[in-house]
Amino acid sequence: MGLMMQMTPSHDLSFDAVVVGAGIAGLTVALSLPSTLSIAIVSRSFTMTSSHWAKGGMAAARGADDDPAEHLYDTIAAGGALNDPERVALLVNEAPNAIEFLQHQGVAFETQPEREAGHGRPRIWHADGDATGAAIMSALGTRLRATRNVTLIDGTMVELINDDNGVIGIMIGHQNALTLLRSPRIVLASGGATGLWGDHTSPNANLGIGIVSAYRVGAIATDLEFTQFHPTAIALSESPLSLATEALRGAGAWIVDEEGKRFLFASDPAGELATRDKVARAMYRHGGQAYLDARPIGREALEKRFPTFVREARQQGHDPMAAGPVPIRPAAHYTIGGVVTDSWGESNIPGLYAIGECASSGVHGANRLASNSLLEGVVFGRRAARHLVDTPNPVSPTHFPRSTNLPTTAPSRITLARIVDDALGIERNAVAIERALEALTDVTTCEMDPFSAHELIQASQLVSMMLIAARERHGTIGAHTRADEQVEDPHYRLTFAMGSAPRREARVW
Ligand code: SIN
Repeated sequence: MGLMMQMTPSHDLSFDAVVVGAGIAGLTVALSLPSTLSIAIVSRSFTMTSSHWAKGGMAAARGADDDPAEHLYDTIAAGGALNDPERVALLVNEAPNAIEFLQHQGVAFETQPEREAGHGRPRIWHADGDATGAAIMSALGTRLRATRNVTLIDGTMVELINDDNGVIGIMIGHQNALTLLRSPRIVLASGGATGLWGDHTSPNANLGIGIVSAYRVGAIATDLEFTQFHPTAIALSESPLSLATEALRGAGAWIVDEEGKRFLFASDPAGELATRDKVARAMYRHGGQAYLDARPIGREALEKRFPTFVREARQQGHDPMAAGPVPIRPAAHYTIGGVVTDSWGESNIPGLYAIGECASSGVHGANRLASNSLLEGVVFGRRAARHLVDTPNPVSPTHFPRSTNLPTTAPSRITLARIVDDALGIERNAVAIERALEALTDVTTCEMDPFSAHELIQASQLVSMMLIAARERHGTIGAHTRADEQVEDPHYRLTFAMGSAPRREARVW
């Protein structure tokens, strides 16, 4: 691992609860806790999270002609029935309340829902068209600024600290200094790990550090082989790629090849309305450059309902009406697996919660249904806040570390991305996975500042966990495609959990 640097925290603060992450899940937790509690939110950015960038909306069966049971059915069908049906029931039944909660925070949802792939009917609620995430985050941010009990702290997670009774604090880094935050309740809302791939739609900073930090203190992680590739990332820039929202296909946009031919029907009768895993796989297998043709939607509807898509494509030099089909390619979009939680969002470590993309709450199965992610953040964020308040104060912690050793060398991000792209793309095979595992043990490291080195070493550990999970999932299901194992093996539907003792758990129903 090279040289280590010993560092002592220069600040030492205490809070009733610490939330790591400033996306929809983190802000929902903070705003749902009583104002009598002192809360810290730690984030490296308060304006650039995946939630801010979310183009889709929130799924909820609210209309007279929709039913949460249908939302449940679509969620489980998209997830390859690997979902935990009780958790999905929680998600869909609490979805209408989640929308009301956000309306109460000032989000102005549109009056008619849209349709997205995988949903049997229109049930996606947008605010500001395809800038729903930004609209929600702006409203929550305004609410947050009006609170007196929430402190916003710039920083990145270095490590979680626990003792025999549960979590007791967290060490964070900012501008080459360490700060110790003492708290018996830590909520990870730190997002996913899709920044590890060369092509991704999330902020570059999403390296899954929350997941691996939880694992390092004994939390269980699962479903790490499931990374969702979004089929319609706009292929006109470097990562992070702009996303052309799935609602475009729901509104009538086509995916075509270089000859202008719609090719998706050859693999699925739902064509453009098949779920993301199927569309991304079909594009990968078809090969060549794919395009999103938004012209069937019509200029007026396109500009009114999808202003962000139109603007971002134009900014990248391509007018979707005048210039025609926009080049697209699948890109890593969402981390389905993560820290295993109960129905309140708590992990197996008392006081340590995980909400949203860093969690494996059981709702998504092998492939997340469109527009269920903002929803998950709100539903489980509110549940975590309720649970956290109802849980009595844990016993006083025993000790805190006086210093932390941080490395000064690590593999570069480019090296890591190359390993990830090679072995954990849309189609996987055992040979590439083994090659990647070997490459990780023998990777060339470079010198860098201790915080970046620490982060990249943790990210490498997460990559090796993802590789092992991908190796152990024989066969193809949802977002995990094994090119070398078409035949379902007997363990095909079992979840591979990694934690204090790696084990398989059945989540079959
Ligand atoms: C999209 O608008 O296609 C993305 C929304 C989501 O990730 O569910």
